[in-house]
Amino acid sequence: MDICVIGAGYVGLVTSCSLAHLGHHVILVEADKNKLSMLEKGKTPFFEPGVDELLQKYANGSNLIFSGSIAEGVKRSEIIFIAVGTPPMPSGEPDMSYVVKVAKEIGGALDTTRKRIVVNKSTVPVGSGNWVEMLVKQGQQSVQTVPVRSSKVESPLVTVASNPEFLREGSAVYDTFYPDRIVVGTADPMAVEMMRELYRPVIEQTFEPPAGTPRPNGFSNVPFVVTDIASAEMIKYSANAFLAMKISFANEIAGICEKVGADVSQVALGIGLDKRIGTHFLRAGVGWGGSCFGKDVNALIEVAREYSCPTHLLEATINVNKNQRLCAIKKLQEELKIIKGRTIGLLGLSFKPDTDDLRDAPSLTIAYQLQKMGAQVRAYDPVSMDSCKRLHPELNIHYCQNLEELASGADALVLVTEWNEFAEANWNSLAHQMQWPLIIDGRNFLVESELSEAGFTYRGIGQ
Ligand SMILES: NC(=O)c1ccc[n+]([C@@H]2O[C@H](COP(=O)([O-])OP(=O)(O)OC[C@H]3O[C@@H](n4cnc5c(N)ncnc54)[C@H](O)[C@@H]3O)[C@@H](O)[C@H]2O)c1
Repeated sequence: MDICVIGAGYVGLVTSCSLAHLGHHVILVEADKNKLSMLEKGKTPFFEPGVDELLQKYANGSNLIFSGSIAEGVKRSEIIFIAVGTPPMPSGEPDMSYVVKVAKEIGGALDTTRKRIVVNKSTVPVGSGNWVEMLVKQGQQSVQTVPVRSSKVESPLVTVASNPEFLREGSAVYDTFYPDRIVVGTADPMAVEMMRELYRPVIEQTFEPPAGTPRPNGFSNVPFVVTDIASAEMIKYSANAFLAMKISFANEIAGICEKVGADVSQVALGIGLDKRIGTHFLRAGVGWGGSCFGKDVNALIEVAREYSCPTHLLEATINVNKNQRLCAIKKLQEELKIIKGRTIGLLGLSFKPDTDDLRDAPSLTIAYQLQKMGAQVRAYDPVSMDSCKRLHPELNIHYCQNLEELASGADALVLVTEWNEFAEANWNSLAHQMQWPLIIDGRNFLVESELSEAGFTYRGIGQ
């Protein structure tokens, strides 16, 4: 099928590469000229495992081409994905200006040669599907109609559908090929059939897996959920709100565990084995971050406010997380007493491992707070130090080339991101280089007994 994807971010680029692998003809439209020129050279503009391989295989071939023009993308395609950002505004509402601009441009570029489905993959507040449809139609010179394939029934030239994205950064390619479900929201039966056709190889798992992303054993049919647009939009927000709430729940329980002498990891295992609860997303730590959870929970609160619906759980989810980010600092105070003048090394900056994404990363909150308290902050991260330097020049962080430089003469280390490299570190040697071998394991990631044997004072979360 002929597909246009607008926006070459984490969602748009992964979607484009994956659809190209499934055999579709994809034109990826990106407004940022630097990104576009990198893509044309077959280079991935961000760090995401598995994308390089697909990009190098398909870029500039018959299955994946790039463009700076929405009009060109629309002309060549029957399904047009909107995958631009919807970043949070200070009010908590998502900034819809990118979606608005794109929707109007799509409308302006439509012609009557074939019916098109405009698919919203960007995460947008409930009701945006109808709004995008209005904007697309406003962008058209006049509302035209076109015959539906061989049938004589007249159909609108364009239909808007919602197809929320559930990929996780760090495993985005895997999640795209082996999703838990595909959700499509639309009232148009023809759009449903076109979307089913598009995703058929994933739904039926008939594609040849890419070399770097093999199919998990026993993985078979993927549920294809068809619903109305508002429910599809609500599914996306509710899924993220629930996941964020689960982590905040684990973190609140962790606080109680510390007081009563229980171990939150054991508690999480014990409750997670109950199938009604499940073991995932119950890991205590310095809180969740990333481009989606905070933005989407706040956006859902705003939607609810418009309808005067109470949001006690959603607000608590946010507040617990805000406090949780500072628990590493409380532990440093308990151990070091004075923070002013101390040198603290952060292990990891990205909001989670296997990504360079720093959006709403707990590391930033911790670094700001330590700096405010008069500490010298150092950091080491395998992939996101350059973006941190570029995006947060106000943070006076000393970026280290390796763990030895981070530990040398430091008063404490705080593990913020659970990169594999940290599990394999030579902790014996690092302890000897420190002023004060103290480590706050903000993700309960390291093995306490190994760290203690190496000479560290080890503090986890909820233990
Ligand atoms: N990142 C995730 O893990 C994730 C997961 C699920 C859903 N989402 C949602 O998907 C959407 C995209 O997220 P992302 O992380 O990929 O964003 P991103 O910021 O990484 O990428 C957006 C891209 O769109 C481009 N763009 C903006 N306006 C454009 C225009 N007029 N024409 C062409 N390109 C344009 C930007 O230059 C940028 O490259 C958001 O709504 C987000 O909430 C993200």
